[in-house]
Amino acid sequence: MQITRAIVPAAGRGTRLYPITKAQPKEMLPLGARPTIQAVAEELTAAGLSEILFIIGEGKSAIEDHFDPEAGVLEGEPPLFNHDRVQFFFTRQGAPRGLGHAVQCGERFAADRHVVVALGDCTIQSPEAAAPLRRMLEAHMQHGAAASIVVQQVSAEDTRRYGIVAPGRRLDENAIEISDIVEKPGPEAAPSRMAVAARYVFSPQLFSYLATSTPGHGGELQLTDAIRAMIADGHRVLAVPLRRDEYRLDVGNPASYARAFVRAMLADPQFGEGFARDTANILLRQDEHQAHNGSNDERSCDPDLPEDSG
Ligand code: G1P
Repeated sequence: MQITRAIVPAAGRGTRLYPITKAQPKEMLPLGARPTIQAVAEELTAAGLSEILFIIGEGKSAIEDHFDPEAGVLEGEPPLFNHDRVQFFFTRQGAPRGLGHAVQCGERFAADRHVVVALGDCTIQSPEAAAPLRRMLEAHMQHGAAASIVVQQVSAEDTRRYGIVAPGRRLDENAIEISDIVEKPGPEAAPSRMAVAARYVFSPQLFSYLATSTPGHGGELQLTDAIRAMIADGHRVLAVPLRRDEYRLDVGNPASYARAFVRAMLADPQFGEGFARDTANILLRQDEHQAHNGSNDERSCDPDLPEDSG
């Protein structure tokens, strides 16, 4: 069995980022030198996914424009993607009814096959771009799972921002069976600190569970609740942990976006080195101002001031 299709929910309004996202999709915010959604698509294609459905909605047409093989392409430049190897599809989630509902919009696209779900406002940064997705896909097939989920360790205060899994038996180096999953529990109710990290793969059974789900956390149809019902019916669901040198870059709120941008920029092959140097100098200069020692020692160079500006 080869898994080739991926659903990318990108319809959320991004209210946690207002006013940045009042009139532009959060998925188009740059992560380093590329829009987030492009980084997501590159991660998916690097893992061998070749048919990608974006779930968009009101105010998100910039995403569709971005993946157009001809519109906006500079003369003499190749298109962003090799369109012989990957095909992009778009559909709309009419109203924001939750992540579960967004994924449901991809049911016909999944067409009774196993399908990857990759949230459009996060990328996974890894020394090897597609490694986390590959480990997830391998574990999923090897252990005959109904669902497999990439997870990351979070702090106790942060459990309320994520789906949190209850880990059970470890099957091998990459896969842990999970016995429950809860959407955004407070630290007192969280079954662990292992958080759902925006990448999933599902068997087609998911869609029958979504069809019978009822609104959950925040009054929305939650993907987490459908997974919970799958586990309760005895289906095997796996957690695939991120490694220590792998990070989920999340553009969902201003603070996480700022960190994500810096990490992505530092890893950029063209701009990373210069950015690291400039940032170090900006911080050093700020420290010097704060220390205000008045000495005439040689000062660090602020990249945004001319060298002779003192
Ligand atoms: C969604 C999921 C949550 C998951 C998170 C990050 O929440 O519902 O389970 O942990 O993405 O992958 P959101 O951040 O969209 O509110």
